[in-house]
Amino acid sequence: MSAAANDQQQRWDKKYADAKPVTSAAACEVLRSNLHLLPAKGTALDLACGLGGNALLLAEQGLTVTACDISPAGLRTLAQTAKSHNLPLTTRQRDIEQDGLGEEQFDVICVSRYLHRPLCPAILAALKPGGLLFYQTFCEEKPATVGPNSPDFVLRTNELLTLFAGLRLRYYQECGPLGNPAAGNRSEALFIGQRQTRKKRV
Ligand SMILES: C[S@@+](CC[C@H](N)C(=O)[O-])C[C@H]1O[C@@H](n2cnc3c(N)ncnc32)[C@H](O)[C@@H]1O
Repeated sequence: MSAAANDQQQRWDKKYADAKPVTSAAACEVLRSNLHLLPAKGTALDLACGLGGNALLLAEQGLTVTACDISPAGLRTLAQTAKSHNLPLTTRQRDIEQDGLGEEQFDVICVSRYLHRPLCPAILAALKPGGLLFYQTFCEEKPATVGPNSPDFVLRTNELLTLFAGLRLRYYQECGPLGNPAAGNRSEALFIGQRQTRKKRV
């Protein structure tokens, strides 16, 4: 593992060491609000899962879930929560920025509050044909007190649409500061895209 990855791991391990376990209620909004788009069965990946709210919700929906993260502390807590709720899921400690994701592995991939732009082509490739990507993370119009402020970790206007232009758009929201800023999600962009299905040969 690189020195930078090691720093990341230690930083998140420390944070998760004191954290209370979460439940599926902690899943990101784009997933919670669009459960009706999920397939009835199949494989799902919660990428950079942290304490795994998305993974728990996907497992509750009957999907076969893998949750991966660089932090063993977060994954340990998630594994205990899943066991106590009788939800089967697999946890994997991975440096996803180095290790790759494999090709056409998942019917659903969910990413929340994590951004590493060079990984986007690998995320696309890891979706099976017809697979769905749920992505939600911080965007530049957010209040400075919410989330990270480094441009490396914050989306530019409409950027998820560009990063995942290869997917068929199923849902997009980026409210910015319009109207009543006390209502709605002002900090994050929400995206759902679908990988093209293979054309049937005749
Ligand atoms: C802001 S947290 C988001 C966690 C979760 N997705 C959520 O929405 O609550 C970012 C997560 O990315 C993970 N992470 C950072 N760099 C990583 C890497 N190179 N490989 C795997 N996970 C990484 C961290 O351990 C952390 O759990």
